Amino acid sequence: MKPMLAPSLLSADFAHLADAVTMVAESGADIIHLDVMDGHYVPNITFGPVLVKAVRKTTMLPLDVHLMIQTPDEYIDAFAQAGADGLSVHLETCNHLDRTIQVIKSHKIKAGVALNPSTPICLLDEILHELDFILVMSVNPGFGGQKFIPSTLAKISKLKSMITARSLQILISVDGGVGHDNAAELILAGTDILIAGNSVFGAADPRASVRTFKDIIMKSGRI
Ligand code: DX5
Ligand code: ZN
Repeated sequence: MKPMLAPSLLSADFAHLADAVTMVAESGADIIHLDVMDGHYVPNITFGPVLVKAVRKTTMLPLDVHLMIQTPDEYIDAFAQAGADGLSVHLETCNHLDRTIQVIKSHKIKAGVALNPSTPICLLDEILHELDFILVMSVNPGFGGQKFIPSTLAKISKLKSMITARSLQILISVDGGVGHDNAAELILAGTDILIAGNSVFGAADPRASVRTFKDIIMKSGRI
């Protein structure tokens, strides 16, 4: 399928979030990515379901909610009710990942697992077929604007082969340090969703940045 762009609101102006969403939506963004951080699992705190609910009112685009929190099971219902279209939990935070995925799916929304840079994809072996998407972290989670970890490319290729070998339809998203400079090779490696925070909202012209990403996607030839 054609790769998609998911701007991450983490780097947007929180005093004008509705404007930020409208701006990227009008420029061609496919998904809005929202980073939930609890100050325990990651050394930063962002927002909870109340903000997701507010953003929900500003757009028809799918909301991809990335839970970087210690106890995701306690909050799945709240984020689903707030209007998330997809929820990803970090594999590293789940004692009973299969149950967690079933709970997400019970809300009829997309279920994803996020993997830290040091977490091997073999840990997904027995649960792969249950997933709608896998979020590959290409930085250590917690902050926007970090440098892309190059070994992520090989990890994505390996994951793509694993998915293809089993004839599954699971999307791969990549999160952290994604920019115009590495988007093409990430797509070539098998990325379906480019999540980009700083390279969109930190750009002098965020609209132009979204359009450049979409150009790169178009030129990738993936349909
Ligand atoms: C980091 C978050 C990312 C973040 C990416 O922990 O999960 O979604 O917004 O930001 P950039 O694109 O700036 O690396
Ligand atoms: Zn994220």
